[in-house]
Amino acid sequence: MDMVKNFHMAQGLGETSYAHNSRLQKEVIESVMDMTLSSAMEACADVETVSIADLGCSSGRNTLSVVENVIRTVCERRRETTRQLPEFMVFLNDLPSNDFNALFSLVPEFVQKVKAEHDDGGEILVSVAGVPGSFYGRLFPSSSLHFITSFTSLHWLSQVPAGLLNKGESINKGNIYMSPASPPSVATRYVKQFQEDFSQFLRSRSQELVVGGRIVFSMLGRRNHDSHEKINECPFFETLGKSLSILISQKMVAEEKVDSFNLPYYAPSTQELEDQVYREGSFTIDSMKQDYHDWTIKYTPKMLSNFCIAATKSLICHHFGEEIIEPLFETHTQLLCEKLMAGEDIGWSKIIVVLCKSVAR
Ligand SMILES: C[S@@+](CC[C@H](N)C(=O)[O-])C[C@H]1O[C@@H](n2cnc3c(N)ncnc32)[C@H](O)[C@@H]1O
Repeated sequence: MDMVKNFHMAQGLGETSYAHNSRLQKEVIESVMDMTLSSAMEACADVETVSIADLGCSSGRNTLSVVENVIRTVCERRRETTRQLPEFMVFLNDLPSNDFNALFSLVPEFVQKVKAEHDDGGEILVSVAGVPGSFYGRLFPSSSLHFITSFTSLHWLSQVPAGLLNKGESINKGNIYMSPASPPSVATRYVKQFQEDFSQFLRSRSQELVVGGRIVFSMLGRRNHDSHEKINECPFFETLGKSLSILISQKMVAEEKVDSFNLPYYAPSTQELEDQVYREGSFTIDSMKQDYHDWTIKYTPKMLSNFCIAATKSLICHHFGEEIIEPLFETHTQLLCEKLMAGEDIGWSKIIVVLCKSVAR
């Protein structure tokens, strides 16, 4: 339980950095926009008051840009059939520690823009609300939503899996996540945590969506099912673990402190996602795709390291203290440079899934 609390607290410390380092996430959203919009059209075709939610919205503009596109698409489709425009209820969810004030400060401009674009003789109503809470539980009333999105968030587990320390000794020594080099006992614990979390996510969304409603989500995934294959390494976190080992050798951080540090991160395979969806039983899979983003084409090692800081700074500060950040990420950038010069990939594999709620719960 403490771990959950710690993770959520730690997540909060880093919200601002999410907001200012969201370029990779923006690219991810753009790459799945077509699929998102066609699913929105299916889900919201005949609805008078359209309820949409973005889960893990963070505090930057990405979330509002998704919503803006969804509203535009739904309205364009309505105009084709000369029907009256619907009203929109938009729910933006993140952990309670998210900087909702920063997010809300963007809302008036967003609403004005949407109104200016769509007020052609009629009134368009867009009501926006923040919903603080974990998406690994119920957030909304039963059958109240038509369309849900969640981008680059679901690979964050609700907590670091229990049991990674055995009598004070790490069973994941030398690794900070479920790396291909981790022993099978570590993989078992991460898999169990993922299954618990993801089934809870599906169960909650199944209750909240109307029949015919859709969820579109993208998350980081493994490139194949075998978690011990090198191709499934996360280069960002692999290099972060190596950077911590270098700091141990330079006596800048205690070995035991590093041994007890693990990220609540899990990248599933498409097969695992499929299994979980079938097991839960109320969704059909409209679409599931996987692709690979090689970030070295556009970004320097320093920029990539900054993105990694944005995603992990809060967790690292919480565990090691803020003073470690500078030396750690200098080393991290250096190691990413070396990887690049050795011709290695620095990227991630992304899975995008569209689910349709097909069975009443
Ligand atoms: C990398 S950011 C993605 C932000 C945004 N969706 C985007 O694509 O730009 C991940 C977000 O997920 C949120 N998050 C992580 N675990 C969560 C949970 N259990 N419930 C709700 N939000 C969560 C984090 O707080 C963070 O804002």
